[in-house]
Amino acid sequence: MALELPALPYAYDALGPYMSAETLEFHHDKHHNAYVVNGNKLLEGSDLEGKSLEDIVKGSFGDASKAGIFNNAAQHWNHIEFWNMMKPNGGGAIPGELEKKIIEDFGSVDQFKADFVNAGVTQFGSGWCWLVLDDSGKLAVTKTANGENPLVTGGHALLGCDVWEHSYYIDYRNARPDYVKAFVDSLVNWEYVAERFSKAG
Ligand SMILES: [Fe+2]
Repeated sequence: MALELPALPYAYDALGPYMSAETLEFHHDKHHNAYVVNGNKLLEGSDLEGKSLEDIVKGSFGDASKAGIFNNAAQHWNHIEFWNMMKPNGGGAIPGELEKKIIEDFGSVDQFKADFVNAGVTQFGSGWCWLVLDDSGKLAVTKTANGENPLVTGGHALLGCDVWEHSYYIDYRNARPDYVKAFVDSLVNWEYVAERFSKAG
């Protein structure tokens, strides 16, 4: 099956004032759509054509001849998750089991948030910061470059924040720290993250 651009799970203006309709129109309709269109062009006739998105991402990683497929397919996966990881009136209370685990592994929710923001801010250039459940069963904060994600770098991705400039430049200009802080404080869909946590455990 070809890659398909999903609709946003909320209205374009639903994440204001933290993420504007203009940002979402560019980010979803232009940037995410370009990954879908370019990915489909590159997949045509390749041995990964018709595979599941996860298999395409994993199967193209590290293969120089499939770098274009990897970049577009991985960004497609990242953005599908990213849209679902946010919601209107997000942030706020973290469901009990996940909050308990965050306190266990980071010391406090505030420490987790500080680590997450720091990972996003210190990712040099384009990329993502993540909350993952690692293979030893511990929560960890990681960061990846460009389109790379935990499917290929390890662990189960529970939460990811896009720190490409296209994600924040309209609303925050160059102030990436303010954007990542607003994301973790006011945009995260913790119910969705908790659901990913319960499935990963
Ligand atoms: Fe993006």
